[in-house]
Amino acid sequence: MCGIIGYTGTQYAKDIIIDGLSTLEYRGYDSAGIALGGDDIAITKQSGRVSELAKLIPTSFATIGIGHTRWATHGAPTSKNAHPHQSFDGNIAIVHNGIIENCEILKKEITSRGIVFKSDTDSEIIAHLLALEDQSDMVQAVENVANKIEGSSSFLAIRKNDDKIYCHKKNAALTIGIGFDGNYIASDMLALAKYTSKGIVLSDDETAILAKNSVKVYKNGVEIEKDLIDISCKPPKICPCYMQAEIDEIPTALLNTYESFYSTIKKECIDDIKKAERIAIVACGTAYHAGLYGKEVIEILANKPVEVYIGSEYDRARFISNKTFAIFISQSGETADTLAAVNRSKSLGAKTLSITNVANSSITFLSDYSLILEAGPEIAVAATKSYNSQLLMLYLLANELAGNKVKRETIEKLSQEAKTLSTHSIFTESMAKDNLFFIGKGIDELSAMEGALKFKEITYKMAEAYPSGELKHGTIALMDTNCTVIALATNEQDKQKLTVSVSEIKARHAKTIGISAVGEIGCDISLFLPKLEDKLLYPILSIIPMQLLSLSTSFHLGINPDKPRNLAKSVTVV
Ligand code: AGP
Repeated sequence: MCGIIGYTGTQYAKDIIIDGLSTLEYRGYDSAGIALGGDDIAITKQSGRVSELAKLIPTSFATIGIGHTRWATHGAPTSKNAHPHQSFDGNIAIVHNGIIENCEILKKEITSRGIVFKSDTDSEIIAHLLALEDQSDMVQAVENVANKIEGSSSFLAIRKNDDKIYCHKKNAALTIGIGFDGNYIASDMLALAKYTSKGIVLSDDETAILAKNSVKVYKNGVEIEKDLIDISCKPPKICPCYMQAEIDEIPTALLNTYESFYSTIKKECIDDIKKAERIAIVACGTAYHAGLYGKEVIEILANKPVEVYIGSEYDRARFISNKTFAIFISQSGETADTLAAVNRSKSLGAKTLSITNVANSSITFLSDYSLILEAGPEIAVAATKSYNSQLLMLYLLANELAGNKVKRETIEKLSQEAKTLSTHSIFTESMAKDNLFFIGKGIDELSAMEGALKFKEITYKMAEAYPSGELKHGTIALMDTNCTVIALATNEQDKQKLTVSVSEIKARHAKTIGISAVGEIGCDISLFLPKLEDKLLYPILSIIPMQLLSLSTSFHLGINPDKPRNLAKSVTVV
């Protein structure tokens, strides 16, 4: 979603802001902009790439600035809607991440004062509201504006002739970086990695004032003490295709996840899960598919019933109480729907555990317990290695609940097999034009769902996941020569049924490709998975050929898989 960066210090702000925006590009955006402060506020913004924006910015000696990458919600991705937005009097510039839910009411109030909006965005409201406040107390002014806004709204503001950045955090993450040559703030710690390793993570409803040499944080008008924490993270290495690199990193990610689980899991957490009457797992997208796997392994190994919820549907979840243990899965730790679900669970008395790839993300601060995947930064919008790591983390957790310690050798073998598998391709050119179906039974159906999601995300083509036995109840009507069906079979007990489904599909002239751990199931082409100690580990391997086939199809269609259209890496609005 939107990326935010700000700097005030002794260095030239332009270079720092542009560099930060380039780091934030991976989050997905359609326009970008920068405001440089000083005697005047110089704004440059446009739709398109940060590299193009950088060429348009005049030489500047400003040492304060804010920048933004926008993922359009209110208003098309045009220059006028790009951030920063300026107040009617030209004195204030703001960048914002979030959605202002009472936008129409506030706009009416502002326009009734004769102020004319220059953009179609909700965010411009913040600039005007701030300008209408008494500027002699900026903490009060920022808090007054924040209180008027309903919804999520993290924002930065700068003023003419002022070297301070005024910040407020509500939902979308903001982290302050404390540097030697000034202070930084960003929506994503990765953008600060080059400059500092010490910082402050803002919590909801906090206001911060960044000056060159000081940082102050306030809540309800009162200055508060915040812990200075280690925010160091490796800046992502530059690589031609992050998705490819991240698939290649799966073997290492699995070993890291294994180490992380056993060095972090707390006995109290396991006891709390065991004590709970119900387990709820909540997540979105790929992480939701990992949640479905979590249900399988926890129910099978630990014999505890589990409900899995899509984050955006959790507001309707019934029977959540202090007898529930809620597990949240989020690669980024910043997904707004998942964060809202954590808050709801806590307000209903549930204990919470988050499984995330980003230590110090919002979800880790909100939850009672956290497990960090340690899969390494994931830059490509389509999640790959984090998914494999999420599955492993849930497998380890389920085993721990069952009183089993998983041997390191088991995961070393898994990691080795993942490495071998990532050299096998099941891509055929017909996939780039066919309708694709991914089918499986039981645990393989959730892998099929993830395979289909990956394919849709980075090829823009229709793909559907289906329980294999359900096809004959309707969907088989779609089968013809223009279909390719990927059939998954990792469980011996389903082999016969899968073989029947494949033969029904072949009788309708669709092409069939098998990903099988149970030998031949009658597909035109088959990829056979290696023998694993525990069949519950197969989903960690079987997804790899599907990740790769999506990637190959994307390349074949001339699409950049790292930056698929319309998508953002972390969805920080509900
Ligand atoms: C994955 O390929 C997608 N980009 C998307 O479904 C993602 O998994 C979802 O938005 C949840 O993100 P999170 O794991 O960061 O919470």
